[in-house]
Amino acid sequence: KYLKIFSPATVANVSCGFDSLGLAIDSVGDEMTFTKTEEKGVRITEITGANLPLNAKENAAGAVALAMLEKHPVDFGIEMTMHKGFSPGSGLGSSAASAAGAAFGVNQFLGNPFSQLELTKFAMIGEETACGSAIADNVSAAIYGGFVLVRSYEPLDIIKIPVPTELRVVAIHPQVEVKTKDSRDVLPKEVPLKSAITQWANLAGLISGLHTENYELISNSLTDIIVEPARKHLIPHFDVVKSEALKAGALGAGISGAGPTIFALCKGDTIANDVFASIENAYKNIKIDFNMHRSKIN
Ligand code: HSE
Repeated sequence: KYLKIFSPATVANVSCGFDSLGLAIDSVGDEMTFTKTEEKGVRITEITGANLPLNAKENAAGAVALAMLEKHPVDFGIEMTMHKGFSPGSGLGSSAASAAGAAFGVNQFLGNPFSQLELTKFAMIGEETACGSAIADNVSAAIYGGFVLVRSYEPLDIIKIPVPTELRVVAIHPQVEVKTKDSRDVLPKEVPLKSAITQWANLAGLISGLHTENYELISNSLTDIIVEPARKHLIPHFDVVKSEALKAGALGAGISGAGPTIFALCKGDTIANDVFASIENAYKNIKIDFNMHRSKIN
């Protein structure tokens, strides 16, 4: 009758995997509750931590729940509350956490009729409602957990990638809002073949490095020569933060999803702590407001 869940924040793209790679972090996310009601339909009764529409049709989580009940009609209704642990427009998959959380929670009430792949498709409806594009990288990472590859959109094919045991994420969120739509509008419409070759070779290298726990290969592959150069001007002091992270020993750093959060992947807790401290210092010197998180990939 009542369910409470945690739905994680996610880092999409992970440098070389634009719209196709995502990872779930275990220290930041939303709390959502679900209550079975006699009255049919979907109602969102409370949202804290962000200013989002309570009207189910306009809300990422509400739209997902409505689509699921339409596909799988039942003689009860569902009431939801959402406690956002991080803000929309952060680049950490805020709408994806709500959409994926709704897909997971509603599925429990329906008796688990839907697979993880089907839940991802429902959650993509939430992404479309919130930001106009049905992108799968954040929602699939939130639903499957760990590291995921969206190998194909049509038909949708999600592949789980193993997470090396010592891999850690540091996420730095400068307090500016970047809308996914704006961040997609600055992207090139075409990519030179030479750049595409570099990018897909790095993506293959990263996947191979994750499978073999080869941190050097992971580090060499964590580059993005297509999307990052087009977007980095949207993020305050991106180059300074990235170079501090690399100096402190990060395997690589880049834009988390559509930004402005910057992520760094690190080998082990000690280096993650060093990277955390050096970026904290860099942003303090620049005098900009920011939030930071250290996390495992889970
Ligand atoms: N892959 C997406 C992007 C993530 O970078 O625009 C945001 O949904």
